[in-house]
Amino acid sequence: MIGPLVNAVRVSSACLRSGLGRCALVSGLLASFQVGAATPAPSLPAPASLQVLHWWTSASERKAADLLAARLAEERIKWQDVAIPGGAGIGAGKVLKGRVLAGDAPEVTQMIGVSIAEWADLGLLLELDNVAAAGNWSRFLFPSIEELVVHRKHVMAVPLGIHRVNTLYYNRALFARLKLAPPQTWAEFEAAASRLRKAGIQPLAQSSEAWQVAALFENLVLAESGPAFYRELFVQRSPQAAADGRTAEALRRLRTVKGWMRRQLDERPWTQVVAAFAQGRAGMMIMGDWARAELAEHGAALDQDYGCAAAPGTAPYHLYSVDTLAMFAGDYHQMQAQERMARLLVTPGLQADFNALKGGVPVRRDADPARMDSCARASWTTFAKGAAVQAPSLVHRMATDEVSRDAIIAELHRYFLDDHVGVAEVQRRLGALFRLFNLKSQGAPGAQDTDRRR
Ligand code: BGC
Repeated sequence: MIGPLVNAVRVSSACLRSGLGRCALVSGLLASFQVGAATPAPSLPAPASLQVLHWWTSASERKAADLLAARLAEERIKWQDVAIPGGAGIGAGKVLKGRVLAGDAPEVTQMIGVSIAEWADLGLLLELDNVAAAGNWSRFLFPSIEELVVHRKHVMAVPLGIHRVNTLYYNRALFARLKLAPPQTWAEFEAAASRLRKAGIQPLAQSSEAWQVAALFENLVLAESGPAFYRELFVQRSPQAAADGRTAEALRRLRTVKGWMRRQLDERPWTQVVAAFAQGRAGMMIMGDWARAELAEHGAALDQDYGCAAAPGTAPYHLYSVDTLAMFAGDYHQMQAQERMARLLVTPGLQADFNALKGGVPVRRDADPARMDSCARASWTTFAKGAAVQAPSLVHRMATDEVSRDAIIAELHRYFLDDHVGVAEVQRRLGALFRLFNLKSQGAPGAQDTDRRR
């Protein structure tokens, strides 16, 4: 009986705080509590249906989403699927904005990184403080995961899994035939790429789609400089970092790596890049570990058909994208179902099963690495070392706000596509952008900056 009262009181405080005119509903809720007080508690929760907007549209992502839907169905919650294609949520972000502006927000949405803080500041998201407190999330979440979902002292999203963006995949049969070892540095990468090309094999499967190019660049910056400088560049967006020699070196390297791709540039979706690698049409691939789940769809087995290692020069580090689901408060009539969903998503069993299908690793410190495959284990144990080795992915919205991210990605893409654009010119343009961004804010709210206070 305490549950409904707590919820009603919480709604009323959220309603007062948000000032969005939802208070009429609170009296309705309180009234239903008073009526409900006389009747015995039902043994089964009321059936509910929640729209879930997300960008998990590849075969493996679909399986992972279907697992969530099946587990929710056991809890009498129907998952109404709103899947928007587009790697890294490029399409989903736009659809979400359009729907919210049209007054048609889904109850649940994949919303990751700094976007959570941006939406939370608009007062539209459901606070999950009760669920997190009752489930003692602080006890088992990695600190940086907790920091990611807490905004202005309120829990605003549910963490599902951690992806490692600095993952290198190599074709084991080709590497064995050419007696190659997985490259640990970019110099070794160059040597391996050159050997593959001489043997008539395309060295690197890589798309020239903007976000995939920028993801490669993040890897290069991290290899060149480590997480501290990486944060200066992408989290603090420091003009000095843009002008730094390490940024210049990473830009030069980006152009060199471009030389190891297929000669004809094309903006293939990431799923086609994975397919090309799985079919043995390239010796190596650098991509977030969601690719591992997709490789399984192609029948490629880890440690047999392909090997998984850290991208060259980044073995001690974890370049991460964390999947999180946020809930829109709406008129609060779905709040109980949304809270039940949040509770379920962080449980150890669901975390283990979902991440095994999705290619990521659990957000829980108490997960069992012995139950993970070699690639997941390396990811989880590296991430567990803490903020000093962690680098928030720019592309996957972990480092900065959406506008800054899009502008930085566009600059990098322009440089990548047009060999006439010089390194110094990109550095100047990034520096000018950073000065502009920092006039507006000193670092984005919610950015994964270790110095940021909660
Ligand atoms: C998400 C992953 C997704 C990948 C490819 C990332 O932003 O974190 O869940 O698989 O994009 O779309």
